[in-house]
Amino acid sequence: MVKEACGLKGEITLPGDKSIAHRTIIISGLAPAKTVINNFPANQDCLATLKALKKFGLKIIQNNSCTVTVFGKGLHGLNKPKTPIFTGESGTTLRLLLGVLAGQNFQTRLIAGQSLSKRPMLRVNAPLRMMGAKITAKRKSPHDKEEYPPLTIRGGNLRAISYKMPIPSAQVKSAILLAALFACGKTRVKEPIRTRDHTEQMLKMFKADIKLKQNNVVIKGGCELVSCGRIDIPGDISSASFFIVGAAILPDSRLLIRNVSLNPLRIGLIKVLKRMGADIKVQKSSASRIYSNEPAGNIIVRSSKLKGTVVKKKEIPSLIDELPILMVAACCAQGATVFEGIGELRVKETDRIKSMLENLASMGAQIKVVRYPKSENIIIEAGKKLKGAKVKNFSDHRTAMSMVIAGLSASGNTSIDSLDCINKSFPDFLTRLKPLIR
Ligand code: S3P
Repeated sequence: MVKEACGLKGEITLPGDKSIAHRTIIISGLAPAKTVINNFPANQDCLATLKALKKFGLKIIQNNSCTVTVFGKGLHGLNKPKTPIFTGESGTTLRLLLGVLAGQNFQTRLIAGQSLSKRPMLRVNAPLRMMGAKITAKRKSPHDKEEYPPLTIRGGNLRAISYKMPIPSAQVKSAILLAALFACGKTRVKEPIRTRDHTEQMLKMFKADIKLKQNNVVIKGGCELVSCGRIDIPGDISSASFFIVGAAILPDSRLLIRNVSLNPLRIGLIKVLKRMGADIKVQKSSASRIYSNEPAGNIIVRSSKLKGTVVKKKEIPSLIDELPILMVAACCAQGATVFEGIGELRVKETDRIKSMLENLASMGAQIKVVRYPKSENIIIEAGKKLKGAKVKNFSDHRTAMSMVIAGLSASGNTSIDSLDCINKSFPDFLTRLKPLIR
């Protein structure tokens, strides 16, 4: 049960950034040396990557709850696994591993949990096939062109490609870049809109021959990676987003969030909230880059009166995972907020347009979807306070955490069917939230 609250006060630090964490262990495993990774988040998704990598014969030790040591074996050190690899519900695990496996001279079967088994995979299979990987995947019917897990991949003998991505996706781009490490020659990837570049930054740190220029990445294959020995993962900006919005919309808040990842391609939520009038101060720390090649810093948020805005299609990749919680912020603003071109939300852990629409409507929000032939917009007409209601998690961690924050801002009580799904990204969410609630 969530009760109406006055504010969020105090300070917190957060577990390491989930997106960066997947890359740290995958890329460390491909370098011929030991890498110690600090602030590794022990959530279900990152543990799915860790367990999967062990099945390829990599030694990985979890020294304590958040330090992980990877004994990498170089680009050609992975062994054929004895059993199929279970990737849980983690799309990042599955799609990034496909990139690595495209470079391996053996066959692997990849299986997934219930919700990931319904998510589209052709977007990643298509470019990897162009590079020479042999992939078979499930289809729902002979007429359905889309492909789903389970998948079987046999790699090796890859050629470099020039690939213009049809949709912005950091997971697809990363799979191609990881495969490109094994290909002969230079692979070029062009994105329609830039997406998070954690893979590129981590590969640079591991001395890969990689060049970034605006929407283009060029990477040369065939060179061994060089481990940097130690990586400190900054706190997760996506996990921070629930606290940032909570502090902004509740009337009596002052919250300091320490050491959060501030990759310029991930901070769309902060930019949009500031445009809506939120009182957010960001203090970048110059030291943070040394052990992660990622910017990080502290964020201070105070209560604010928000006003509606238009979130443009070109901003969506920089806040794709923050859209559910941004919809909650929009419900608490004066005037309308429009989210343009958000169709990708339909193929996340759940259909997040449906989950947020149903839940926020049940709390009294005026929210509608406008469909176009190739995309969709959401319009939230706000102004009225949300009312406590019975809402559902839709088996989605980000929907569930967003509804907890919505519940704090609503009058009366809000009940959520279960919060177990939060373990996917942020098992400690409630433990860290409760002491801040006023
Ligand atoms: C991620 C990329 C995004 C994001 C996901 C994590 C990543 O997915 O939604 O949670 O770590 O690369 P897409 O690449 O499908 O947009």
